[in-house]
Amino acid sequence: MFKGVLFDLDGVITDTAEYHFLAWKKLADDLGIEIDREFNEKLKGVSREDSLTLILEHGHKLEEISAEKFAELAKEKNENYVEMIQAISPKDIYPGILELLTELKENDIKIALASASKNGPLLLDKMEISHFFDAIVDPASLKAGKPAPDIFLAAAKAVGISINDAIGVEDAKAGITAIKASGALPVGVGQKDELGHDIAIVPDTSHLSLSYLTTVWNEK
Ligand code: BG6
Ligand code: MG
Repeated sequence: MFKGVLFDLDGVITDTAEYHFLAWKKLADDLGIEIDREFNEKLKGVSREDSLTLILEHGHKLEEISAEKFAELAKEKNENYVEMIQAISPKDIYPGILELLTELKENDIKIALASASKNGPLLLDKMEISHFFDAIVDPASLKAGKPAPDIFLAAAKAVGISINDAIGVEDAKAGITAIKASGALPVGVGQKDELGHDIAIVPDTSHLSLSYLTTVWNEK
């Protein structure tokens, strides 16, 4: 049986993946760079700085942006994003997530947050679910972001379990790659064509439950 579940946040616990997209889209529009939802798939799970680099590269503007301007743009995107998430509340928790967190707690299964977002703790507070989490990894403390496995390895370590006894839940390609590289068992939320045909995928979080995760674990 698995001993812990390592959760991504944006697009897994709530719909903030959409707000990240809208905030990046506004910044890109202001810079005269076109980004669409297909391009946005590359940004999911990726850190703020790495996302900005990808957008500037996409618009052939990376070379002309100074380090100071880069920092300014990253700050501007975040300020816009933080404004968008102010109204987030418990009613924004995705279907099934609260029930899953409750079941995991009742069964002494560790719960960790493995989100690349520096806004993770704020969002958990707004949704009033911080108390479920045995650990929240600080993404600023890591050498490499997703798709590197570091954040999932750090999450398992923080809750005192072996990574081989953990399940990771992700909605992003970069996140699934990170989970696979870490040695945890991946469970994807989304589409097989985007996340892969070789792992367990649910179309949305209402399908996640302790019983579903146990079945996936026993079939691995
Ligand atoms: C990830 C999101 O969870 O966090 C990315 O999927 C985002 O879209 C990244 O860029 C960093 O988030 P933040 O809030 O620190 O800018
Ligand atoms: Mg995500």
